[in-house]
Amino acid sequence: MSDQISDQINENSYNIAPFLYDIRGFLILTFAYRNTLQSQIRFFSENLKGHHLECAIGTGTFTAMCMKYARKKFKQNNFHIVGADYSKALMDGARKKMKGAELVIEDLRNMSFDDETFDTANLPNGYHTIGGIDEAMSEISRVLKPGGTLYMNVLLYPGDGFMNKISKKVNDYGQSIGILNRPYTREEVLESMPKHGFHVNETFIIKNCIFIKASKA
Ligand SMILES: C[S@@+](CC[C@H](N)C(=O)[O-])C[C@H]1O[C@@H](n2cnc3c(N)ncnc32)[C@H](O)[C@@H]1O
Repeated sequence: MSDQISDQINENSYNIAPFLYDIRGFLILTFAYRNTLQSQIRFFSENLKGHHLECAIGTGTFTAMCMKYARKKFKQNNFHIVGADYSKALMDGARKKMKGAELVIEDLRNMSFDDETFDTANLPNGYHTIGGIDEAMSEISRVLKPGGTLYMNVLLYPGDGFMNKISKKVNDYGQSIGILNRPYTREEVLESMPKHGFHVNETFIIKNCIFIKASKA
């Protein structure tokens, strides 16, 4: 099933108590992405600068950890965060823990922000969950200022081996309940970036995820 596109993805796919969502997310991170939380926090916190758009912020738990890390490790980077997500259920969780950040219900495929609003944007653990990623990437590009940076990660198809058998099962489960669109290949993701006006500056792979630092051309 993992190469089929889920037809169940919508803003109600995440109608779950925020704390259960966070526990499930941690299990998915460990067994499908096979990443550590720490490696993701280190990566995404570096791009918290200026007027920042946090795409697909979910419950805000991950972003709050990145903000804390950035304030310690990247003291020179001042930032103001706007968090966007289309799930009202998750956003209710985010509102409780992200006082001070601006939180808005937005569909990433059709955002209400003006062109060239943001200096930076992150899309953590979101690319492969979005049905209609081309529209979302064009929109993120539109609302970024020229030269603005986008950090993102994408779930790749699991390879062989015992742990990846578990990853495939977790992906199948994610698709069956509408929280995973599909995994991608490294090539298809990288080839699509220029089409949305992005220049890829750096990439690396950790287990089943590719991490990308890009900037708007
Ligand atoms: C796996 S969660 C990631 C949440 C958070 N970034 C994290 O790393 O914990 C994916 C998020 O993408 C959001 N999402 C999926 N499609 C979306 C869309 N078209 N517009 C806005 N948010 C979307 C979901 O509501 C969910 O909060």
